Order: sequence, then structure tokens, then C-alpha cells
Amino acid sequence: MSARGQFSSRLGFIIAAAGSAVGLGNIWGFPTQVASNGGAAFVLVYLLLTFVLAYPILMAELTIGRYAQSNMANALQKISPTSLGKIVGKTAGLWGLAVVSLILSFYAIVAGWMIAHCLQAITEIIGWHQASQWLIEFSITRNLIFCILFSLLTISIVCRGVSDGIERWSTRLMPMLLILIVSLILYVSSLEGASAGWEAYLVPDFSKILTPDLLISAMGQAFFSLSLGVGTMLIYGSYINKKENIVLLGASVALVDIGIAILAGMLIIPAMYVALHNGVTIFTDAGELIDGDRLIFTVIPQLFQAMGVAGNYVSLVFFVLMTIAALTSSISMLEVPVAFTIENSKLNRYKASWLIGSIIMLLSSTLIFNFEHLFGFVISLTTQYSQPLLGLVLCIYAGWVWRRNSILEELKQGCPEIESSFFWKIWPNYVRIVCPIIIIVMFYQTTFA
Ligand code: PHE
Repeated sequence: MSARGQFSSRLGFIIAAAGSAVGLGNIWGFPTQVASNGGAAFVLVYLLLTFVLAYPILMAELTIGRYAQSNMANALQKISPTSLGKIVGKTAGLWGLAVVSLILSFYAIVAGWMIAHCLQAITEIIGWHQASQWLIEFSITRNLIFCILFSLLTISIVCRGVSDGIERWSTRLMPMLLILIVSLILYVSSLEGASAGWEAYLVPDFSKILTPDLLISAMGQAFFSLSLGVGTMLIYGSYINKKENIVLLGASVALVDIGIAILAGMLIIPAMYVALHNGVTIFTDAGELIDGDRLIFTVIPQLFQAMGVAGNYVSLVFFVLMTIAALTSSISMLEVPVAFTIENSKLNRYKASWLIGSIIMLLSSTLIFNFEHLFGFVISLTTQYSQPLLGLVLCIYAGWVWRRNSILEELKQGCPEIESSFFWKIWPNYVRIVCPIIIIVMFYQTTFA
């Protein structure tokens, strides 16, 4: 047993990393983007971008992490031959750490709402209508209680370590997630109105395919969805055994992430049209499908209500699904600052998890008390601005700073034939040139255009 944590098996890694990738981003972000951006046309662009942009960066993170056997700040220092490179690398690593902590601080609030909605379904079933009402109403107390509850769950998993905490819980929760999502798809498809939803989802509207808006949305989505830029995949990569073929492992994670996003679309879009059939408003005044929090906390619950008694059970299953998706992602977020602390101080994992977890709970509370000013701001600061820029830094380190021979040596472990593979012919120049260009263009478009 090495002193560092390690995933106990190949499958364990795939499930844990897929658990990180599959989150609220897939189950609520992806489906509505599909609906408002030309249905299957968006799915195609998204698939393409995942493999053209996100997968190469995922590989950069996994390879750097496994080589350096450490967190992003230490790893980027390690692969830089020059002292300037080391300073910039460390700064970028710390920036990633700050960004992922901020992402967790808002993610925990949203995930807390999911838990509140699970309980609401239960209180409805047993007839506690007042409690029900309180659980779904926006209030500081409710937000605080459930955010703290979710954070405690996250901390209690991370403090157990890589294989006994993260891997064990991901392998328990991810199959449940899959079962729940498939059961819900089957149920919703059997309801009246669902077929119009399938049509909206599966018939591509190619007139929207090349609009800058669609491309940018798809890129942002691919980035957030694969948990890129902030050192999550890098630290997970550092826990992969040297005998494993990380090119294949990375591809499996990307495929599972896409697969679950597509499944989520098969659930949410038909569900919206079933809601429409039941008289629920699903379009905004401008004629676009309602998305974001109004979709999840208004349209979908209205659908459950319209289903009568069965609706409470379906609602429970739906919000349990959301909570599970959020939890397997939040543990991967917390692991980033926790691993950094363990590797750079004398604190053990248990203490580090509780200490960092508490700091992040304080951040979440600050967001809750200043919701209107801070919540949206932190989301765009982290996901829209920081994640792409950090992705760019990672490409520069993998493509320009790190010596190519050393990358090859690292990849050869677990895959001796890599040098003659298609991957090795394409990938190095890809992360060196193509990915940075795509990110710069995207960043320019979202920020200045
Ligand atoms: N990928 C996660 C989701 O789709 C979010 C995430 C972002 C997780 C960054 C870890 C790091 O919900």
C-alpha cells in the first residue's frame, strides 16, 4: 500500500471520476440547453466538442496528475523546468483550488435545495402540508440548514479517504443514479404528451447549429461537465495506478459523462412536454423553453403535482437522483483543497477534511446571507471566466512547458504501444495549439463580444 491514497481498481476510478463529471451540470444544465439550442443538433455539437476540446484537456489533467503524484499546485511546479514556470504553475494551482472551493460553496446550496425537495415529497406523502410548504419556500433558514446538511455528508465521505470514502460511495451511488434515471425515463415516456418531447429532443434543427451562441454554450457545458480546469481530474489522476492505461480510462469517463447527459435529456425534455400537456407553462413569454432554476423548482414540481398522489413518489425519486448526482460531484470538489492541505501541511486527512469543509460552509453561508449580490456573481466568476482560463493554463503546461519525452514516458506506463498510436499522433499538438485557440476564441466571445 502506498502512503498516498489510490483507487483500488480500474472500475473504481472510472466510476468515481464519472461521478465527479456527472452532476447537476448534466441533469439540469444539459437538457435545457438541448431544448433551446436546436435539439439533436446541440447534442451533435456537444459530442464533437467533448472529444475535440474537453477530452484532450481531461487527458492533460490525468497525465500530469499521475506523473506528479500530487495536487495541481505542486504538480505544475514539478513539471516546469524554469523558476518562472514554477511560480506561475503554483499560482494557477492555488487559483484552481480557490475556484473549486467557490464552486462547491454554491453547489452545496443548490444541492441543499434538492435534499429539501426530497423531504418535501415525504412530508406531502404523510400529509404534513405546512412543513411541505416551508421546505419549498426560499428562506435563509431553510437554505442554511440544508446546505450544511449536504456539506456534512460531503465531508463525512471525503474524510474517509480515496478508496474507503470517495471510491466506495461513488460505486454505491452511481449504479443507483443509473437505475433511477432509467426508471424515470420509462415512466415519463409512458405518459401522454411525452412524444412531443421526444420529437423536440431528437429532431435536429440544423439552422441553429453554427450560431456562436450554440457553440459557446456547448463548450462551456462540456468544460463544466467534465469538471475541468480546477484540478479535480488532476488529483483523481494522481490516484490511478501506474499500470493502468489512462488514455482508455479518460475516454471511458468522457463517454459515461456524455451518456448520462443524453439520458438526462431523454428524461427532462419529454417531462416538460408532459407538463405542457397537463396545462403547465413551459415556455417563456419570448417563446423559449423555461430553463435553470425555474425549470427544476417550478415546472418539474408542477408536473409532479398534476400527477396526483403518484406525483409525490415520482418527485421523491427525482430529487434523490439529483442529490446523488450532486454528492458524487461535491466529494470530488472537496478533495482538491483537502489533498492540497494534506500534502502541504502536517494535518491528517480527517482534520483537513473537517477544517476545509467548515471553511467552505462559511463561504456558502456568506452566499446565503448575500444571495442576490453574490450567488450569480460567484457562478459566472468561477464557471464562465475561471474554468476556461485555467483550462488554457493546463494546455500550456501540457503542451509547451512539460517536456514531451517525459509525457510519453508517463503515458507508456500502462500502455507501452502508445508511441505508435493514433492518440499520440494527434494529442500533443492538439493540447499545444488547437485547444488553446478554441479556448481563447470562446473566452473572447463570452467576455467581450
Ligand atoms: N461536473 C460537475 C457537474 O456537472 C461539476 C463540477 C465542476 C465538479 C468542477 C467538479 C469540479 O455538475
